[in-house]
Amino acid sequence: MNKYAIIALLVISASCSKKPVESAKESNVMLEEPVLKAVDSAAAGKHEGLALIEGTDCLTCHKVDARLVGPSYQEVADKYTDGDIEMLASKIIDGGKGNWGEIPMTPHAGMSKENAKKMVEYIMTLKK
Ligand code: HEC
Repeated sequence: MNKYAIIALLVISASCSKKPVESAKESNVMLEEPVLKAVDSAAAGKHEGLALIEGTDCLTCHKVDARLVGPSYQEVADKYTDGDIEMLASKIIDGGKGNWGEIPMTPHAGMSKENAKKMVEYIMTLKK
């Protein structure tokens, strides 16, 4: 057998032994991006809540330090205390208006309460 035949055999046997790639999905999360980013962020030492926020649509309406469609995250942090985390997490999931004006926040129905709370916990770290 010449060496090219050996190489060819090695390549064939290697490709046969590969396991199919499993795509794990979390049933309680509508957008899978944040979950992937959260894993990256843990390695980078970033707050998991921030990674989740960056992975969804929040930043189209919110900035950390300036009003866009919704209040800045610093304003939110200044207005509330840690006792409001539960309420704010529900508000992110259900959407709603009235606390800052008449423009409503869109609901995020597929988001888990756990992830919503992590986002609020990050927002609370911005308190001045
Ligand atoms: C379509 C625009 C929009 C998007 C997208 C959006 N928000 Fe909001 N958000 C708003 C508006 C408008 C308000 C003010 C609601 C009010 O007046 O009660 C708000 C309010 C909030 C508040 C304060 C709630 C309160 O009752 O004071 C938090 C916390 C918040 N948003 C977090 C988030 C997070 C986290 C995300 C991403 C998952 C997000 N928002 C996505 C528009 C948006």
